[in-house]
Amino acid sequence: MSTPMTFHRLEKKVLARLMEAGSASIEELAAASGESPDQVRRAIGWLKDKGLLDVKTRVERVAELGEEGRRAAREGLPERRLLNLVVGEGRLGFSELKARAGMPEVEFNAALGRARRLGWLRIDGEGGVRGSPPAGELPEEGVLRALASGAPVDPQAEQALQGLAKRPGYIVETESKAVSVTLVRRPEGLDLTDGEALVTPELVRKGEPVSFSRLDVLAPAPILKPGRLHPVTNFVAEVREALVSMGFEEVEGPVVQPSFWTFDALFTPQDHPAREMQDTLYVSGVRSRVGREDLVEKVKATHEDGWKTGSRGWRYAWSRKEAERSVLRTHTTAVSSRYLAENPDRESRVFCIGKVFRNENLDATHLFEFTQIEAVISEKDATARRLLGYMTQFYSSLGFPKVRFRPTFFPYTEPSFEPAIYAEQLGRWLEVGGSGVFRPEVVRPLGIRNNVLAWGFGMERIALLKLGEKDLRSLYSNNLSWARERPECQ
Ligand code: PHE
Repeated sequence: MSTPMTFHRLEKKVLARLMEAGSASIEELAAASGESPDQVRRAIGWLKDKGLLDVKTRVERVAELGEEGRRAAREGLPERRLLNLVVGEGRLGFSELKARAGMPEVEFNAALGRARRLGWLRIDGEGGVRGSPPAGELPEEGVLRALASGAPVDPQAEQALQGLAKRPGYIVETESKAVSVTLVRRPEGLDLTDGEALVTPELVRKGEPVSFSRLDVLAPAPILKPGRLHPVTNFVAEVREALVSMGFEEVEGPVVQPSFWTFDALFTPQDHPAREMQDTLYVSGVRSRVGREDLVEKVKATHEDGWKTGSRGWRYAWSRKEAERSVLRTHTTAVSSRYLAENPDRESRVFCIGKVFRNENLDATHLFEFTQIEAVISEKDATARRLLGYMTQFYSSLGFPKVRFRPTFFPYTEPSFEPAIYAEQLGRWLEVGGSGVFRPEVVRPLGIRNNVLAWGFGMERIALLKLGEKDLRSLYSNNLSWARERPECQ
């Protein structure tokens, strides 16, 4: 099947000239079309890709006069100058001639040698020099004259040019590239007229039939790199959008805070491994106050003896000092516990997107500083089943419709689930965070009577999937071209 070729305005101009001339140089095409040589080169590139042109580049050597050459063109070749000196006087003594010539020794000797070989000068018995002028000029002299006036050198004088080129400073050779473009195939049904490019009110008013120039909507266009948001920022916006459209409101909390909100309020015993320095980063020397004296006693009592639910608590002596250690939050559940303590009666759906910190070694699959997204639902009649529904809906709206859950354990939720999404990109399931129904030991001391559901996950792992990358570090490298080249829409 053959579709008619379409041509750009520039291509038409170049074609028009080549249909007349058959072949031409870039300069000729530029002159004939009134376009710059650069524009002509672009059009030639396109036409060549369409198989219409043959482009040949020839390197030409161009000879110009050097400093000595220009002098010889002005004053004559040294051998001619010697001859003129002698002829003017009829006869000159050798040293006299040498003195009048005023040439460096080497040049004088060479010039005299050449003049004798040409038969222009001869040395008589008494050491005098006599001359016999030739009838015409030397081919070298013709070449000098031509070069001095910018005229082309007669190809027959090539040998004379070579001879001059051997004299120091006479000839400078430069290279120039000549491109010659030949039309090898005439495009069929080519209409060289341009047609109208735009529908204007005038055209419509005229009401006459018009022909439009063809637009090639598949023609390669230049890649623009205007300012844009970072791909990770875009992904976060997508997550935010998904949660907001499910009826969630965004909340925030501090990054550094007392361990109380990160651990104690979440019924995480003070000897829990997650609280150890190998896993968690503390700010040394600064104690953070809990600020909610009313809650401290209740949380202490719950840790030690349990919360009137039949659970017996963790059975140890709870330390306020430990609860006041300043910690870089290890999960955004710290934001959830604070939010719940401040809004015990409210039925709410909130989420938080925030940095969390863990004492990890940085590699392709671990960051020590990453972003967690956590959603909390506080409703009178909330159920675990509803939580699974929310999560399924959420991950589907991010483009992961296959979601499954495994039972797991957190000190603060029961039951607890570990959601996994099926990553088509990897051909396998990927665990994404944790979730569960907050235990009475968490919500009752805060004065909450609702059922509270929550799920939290690391943002970067999913961003990686969405962006088709493998290494978490690529998300935060300073590689600008990476950030620029990620498609805006997946
Ligand atoms: N905080 C858990 C984590 O960081 C995730 C989680 C959030 C679990 C909410 C249960 C409820 O892995």
